[in-house]
Amino acid sequence: MIGYTTALFALLAGTLVIAGHEELVQCTPGVFQIIGKADCTGFFMCVFGKKVEMPPCPPRSVFSSSANVCVPKGSMYDDCRKTTEGSGGHMPLLPDLGVFPHPTECQAFYNCSVRYTHGIPRFFEQHLVECPYPQLFNTETKQCDHFENVKCGSRAEIKDGCQYRSNQCPVARCRPCSVDLPSCIGKRDGINVHPAKLWSPFYAVCYKERTIKVEP
Ligand SMILES: *[C@@H]1O[C@H](CO)[C@@H](O)[C@H](O)[C@H]1NC(C)=O
Repeated sequence: MIGYTTALFALLAGTLVIAGHEELVQCTPGVFQIIGKADCTGFFMCVFGKKVEMPPCPPRSVFSSSANVCVPKGSMYDDCRKTTEGSGGHMPLLPDLGVFPHPTECQAFYNCSVRYTHGIPRFFEQHLVECPYPQLFNTETKQCDHFENVKCGSRAEIKDGCQYRSNQCPVARCRPCSVDLPSCIGKRDGINVHPAKLWSPFYAVCYKERTIKVEP
């Protein structure tokens, strides 16, 4: 196995010498990777350490190395660096910029530093993470933030905590989420009866239709 790995490295080293700077792509043997081309026209896939060039991105789109997909050119997801300008040097894609909003959900975002290596959780995809309820993802600070500070724009704003992906039942059967996290949709601010536990001392504290607290 070591011999095989070494041979692959040697093979890749050979490829690196022949290829132009655009193709300075190193695959780690045994690791599945997607590596964007420096000019953002497409990407390589590393399958068992072997570099496979994928078809180019469709017209008017560029490869986003953070989102790992082709995205509309010039859109908010376009993280292509203008490497062709100036000295023409190859600028490495910095991992700290790998935080992107989910296109349709305000509480979810992609964090490229987060990598699921032991299987992707149900309802999630690679690099997809979620803010803790009731926080939302702030596209200006690129962080989870208090929901009142976040402008969701066209991204859907989930108010019911049970609709956050992380609160959805990951197995065949679960204790209903609403038992622990009753919805505050349509409720006034402040103390409200717990709809699943009427006539009990249980209550929910609501604020702007978010469940802030469940007592006792
Ligand atoms: C992204 O993930 C990294 C590594 O887990 C973490 O340090 C960083 O705070 C995360 N970024 C956000 C915005 O959550």
